[in-house]
Amino acid sequence: MNKDVEKRMNELIDIINKASYEYYALDNPTISDQEYDDYYNELLRIERNHPELKRDDSPTARVGGEALDSFTKVEHRTPMLSFDDIFNEDEVIAFDERIRKTIKTPSYTVEPKMDGLSGSLIYEKGLLVRAATRGDGVVGEDITQNVKTIKSVPLRLTRPIDIEVRGEIYMSKESFEKLNKMKEERGEKPFANPRNAAAGSVRQLDSKITATRNLDYMAYFIPNPEDYGIKFQSDSLLFLKELGFKTNYKLNKVANNYKEILENIEKLGSERASLPFPIDGVVLKVNSLEDEARLGTTARVPRWGIAYKFPAVEVLTVLKDIKFTVGRTGKITPNAIFSPVHVDGSLISRATLHNEAYCKEKDVRIGDVVELHKAGDVIPEIGEVKKERRTESLKPFEMIKNCPICNTPLVKKEDEADYYCPNQNCPSRKIEGIIHFAERDAMNIEGLGDKIVEDLFNFDFVKKIEDIYTLQSHREELEELEGYGERSVEKLLNAIEKSKENSLERLIYGLGIKHVGKKTAKILAKRYKTLDNLMNAELDELSGVDDIGGIIAKSVYEYFKNPDNLKLIEDLRKFGVNFKYLGKDEIESEFFTGKTFVLTGALELYTRDKAREIIESFGGKTSESVSKKTSAVIVGKDPGSKYEKAKKLGIPILNEEQFKTEVDKMNE
Ligand code: IVH
Repeated sequence: MNKDVEKRMNELIDIINKASYEYYALDNPTISDQEYDDYYNELLRIERNHPELKRDDSPTARVGGEALDSFTKVEHRTPMLSFDDIFNEDEVIAFDERIRKTIKTPSYTVEPKMDGLSGSLIYEKGLLVRAATRGDGVVGEDITQNVKTIKSVPLRLTRPIDIEVRGEIYMSKESFEKLNKMKEERGEKPFANPRNAAAGSVRQLDSKITATRNLDYMAYFIPNPEDYGIKFQSDSLLFLKELGFKTNYKLNKVANNYKEILENIEKLGSERASLPFPIDGVVLKVNSLEDEARLGTTARVPRWGIAYKFPAVEVLTVLKDIKFTVGRTGKITPNAIFSPVHVDGSLISRATLHNEAYCKEKDVRIGDVVELHKAGDVIPEIGEVKKERRTESLKPFEMIKNCPICNTPLVKKEDEADYYCPNQNCPSRKIEGIIHFAERDAMNIEGLGDKIVEDLFNFDFVKKIEDIYTLQSHREELEELEGYGERSVEKLLNAIEKSKENSLERLIYGLGIKHVGKKTAKILAKRYKTLDNLMNAELDELSGVDDIGGIIAKSVYEYFKNPDNLKLIEDLRKFGVNFKYLGKDEIESEFFTGKTFVLTGALELYTRDKAREIIESFGGKTSESVSKKTSAVIVGKDPGSKYEKAKKLGIPILNEEQFKTEVDKMNE
């Protein structure tokens, strides 16, 4: 009897896997949703009645498993490199010229550059056994549980082979919009773009959450194709498709010279907006794998390929309105409002107009046709104002005189560009202050996003920061509010309770002291260890702290002299909020935290000691010798044997400028 059940179970798995492949990978469904559900439910029933028969590669395993405490680090079998980026036609021509120095008549593949995050999948005897993020290229994180929930990732290949496959984990434009809509409805901060959404979803410790995010996987690379008799990159894609992967084989084009490359780049650029997935450029690879091997890899990047990035996207739209918002410091910002438009994969309906001077210089007027700019993650901005398209007389920009929320006359200092609402009790300032306090980088209270804070403020539950910690006593009233179920209230209250244990730097940052960003908060927490020490610090002493200038010192000093602020702090103390620096909870940095660096050669921008101190301040380590465990080597002038060894081991190598770029990113 069991034999029959097992046979049927195997049959069902085959049917469902085939249907999934046709639906998810080929975009060509062959059975109806109803039929699919029937098979799926039958399989679920069998597995429930016969748990001993359940297979690891069963499609029912895609719902996620037990939540993890952290991700395990895994070393890649071969380093996961990425290509150098280029941005214009001249650089494409230069790339072709460079290749021709080694290969007489090269041909190239021109493929969409998927805009997600790369993922390595390892199959043994055709079974998915491990999935990992790129990490620093040498060591990534084990995300197997999460990747198993991605429907376009085959759990079992069509052939029982051992293979590593690389590709992009991404979110389709449609899923991205759905997810953001849901987040907004819940008052959570939406993701800036599909790439962030994909990264945030795949790095969930709870794979059940990942399973709800509808991620996708596009396979594009096999690290050792010769093992499978593959001779061309274009054949790699066909091979991957045969194994059961979703690939871009249809969009992949072969070009024989730079002209053909440019034609194909242009074509993909024009198709970009209508593609269902986000792309941010085009990847060029030498098609012949024999040529690829001849070209090889430099210490840092492969020579046989390059990534062409599309220029920042510009879209024309009509400026419908200019709305002024009031930040937590009282700063007034004019914002351009327009009908929602898609720019670079994100739906945008406002852009910052910074301040009065900016608006006047641009001479931007309501009713104008304007160019919208968005590059990567940067906040959208208005580019050129199409003055020649003004058809009627439009009113010149005029700065408001009173706060748009509380009507208090605005103030502006001579030497500053911004106007401020000076009313400490302005509702907008209060709301923004509470939102800032709860932010991910501050007290990290999940669920206390913009919309919820506004609701709680308007319903008089949270009028000031300290009220957050009184919400416990309003549990029942909260549960009765529309849209706030028992579960979400429970989650929110738990998150609030947990925030009491945060290390001091989060609290300092969350207080919203003018000029105190994340990095300064960290410096102050490390230096003063407790909030009381910081509160008692004299102005001279504060100004003497490394990296704290006079302006910051004065702002911190004055903050702790203000009676309202002292009341807030005493209330937080009463509620049991931690005031101590815990020495953990470093500012997370993908580049530095937990990584080991080796410095070699003569550095010119930093002293050795300064470079070491910087690395350590961001949670990294330095070491004197290069080994497989080294995350990256930072190379100055005339490097010695450490550099050679790093090259041999395929360890990422950075020059000082590149190191500085990473440091600057942390200091922004
Ligand atoms: S091939 C040596 N093909 O873009 C790199 N990468 O620098 C081999 N990417 O981080 C990767 N689309 O994750 C390849 N069709 C494509 C790609 C692609 C996106 C990513 C990749 C890498 C970066 C390229």
